Amino acid sequence: MAARSQARWQRGHVVEAELVAEGVRRIVLEVEHPEHAAPGTHVDVALTAQGRQQTRSYSVVRSEGGGRRLTLSVQLSPASRGGSQAMHALAVGDELTVTGPVQSFPLAVGAGRYVLVAGGIGVTALVAMASALRRRGADYELVLLGRSRRVMAYLDELSAEHGDRVRVHVDDEGTPLSVPDLVGEIAAGSNAATTELYMCGPIGLMDAIRSSWTDHALPPTNLRFETFGSSGRFGAEEFLVRLPQLDRDVAVAPDTSILDALNAAGVETLSDCRKGECGLCLAKIVEVDGTLDHRDVFLSEAQKQRCTNLCLCVSRAVAGDSGDRATVTLHLT
Ligand code: FES
Repeated sequence: MAARSQARWQRGHVVEAELVAEGVRRIVLEVEHPEHAAPGTHVDVALTAQGRQQTRSYSVVRSEGGGRRLTLSVQLSPASRGGSQAMHALAVGDELTVTGPVQSFPLAVGAGRYVLVAGGIGVTALVAMASALRRRGADYELVLLGRSRRVMAYLDELSAEHGDRVRVHVDDEGTPLSVPDLVGEIAAGSNAATTELYMCGPIGLMDAIRSSWTDHALPPTNLRFETFGSSGRFGAEEFLVRLPQLDRDVAVAPDTSILDALNAAGVETLSDCRKGECGLCLAKIVEVDGTLDHRDVFLSEAQKQRCTNLCLCVSRAVAGDSGDRATVTLHLT
């Protein structure tokens, strides 16, 4: 049984759709049951892609008109044969089914200082948060990272809105972020104990920040994250999941998760967040032929290295040296 958000499903239609950076499409929806979307909320979108029903979650970048108009932004995944491709194909007037806003990344009130770190498309989870902090008159900094300015959505808009509170690190300009320096500055600050860091981006970035945060003994509860936009260490490719207890083999396509592939094959599993945070979907690893790409933020680095469990909702595998399709043998608990 899969537990999902309790937000009600409703119809929405596209009122604006445009490219806002290379590979990133901004989609504005008008929904039939408006509800204000606070910073940190997302909506789930029901899609039919490649003949399958799929659900994708997208951060609400802007909420206007009391939540009647919701702005989402979607990066086209090169491996996509499904979700992001279907979202990029939407045009003005198209209808789709979405939930109301679901809160999964709340912005706390009263921190001494806020540092928002966005890697790539992860910026979508932080745009509304930065605006709320500006309106509150909070002490905040917005750190934006990308491979190239061409692919960084909302860069100009955020720079215009937040001025020198924005710090930009761009790989192809030779200005990558030094995570130890960033976290070290926070730890050395006069209000280190009350500084909160909110991050959304690739899993490698989030792991590096988590590890540096722990090294500096900063309060763990002051580190908050959203995993949408997280990519793994490897590109997505098809692999096989074996379930000896059920005598089943299930192929996992590049654009779907183990969880969705199992559910589509009639194998019921527990889940909740579906983004590698809650651990409800954990399964025991019996054997891996290939290389595992955990992609979750629930297991610690040490647990990931022991490789005894994985999160069905986000973890994947890629072929090893042999080049054969990876196979992961699991035991569902
Ligand atoms: S459902 Fe929450 S970690 Fe997989």
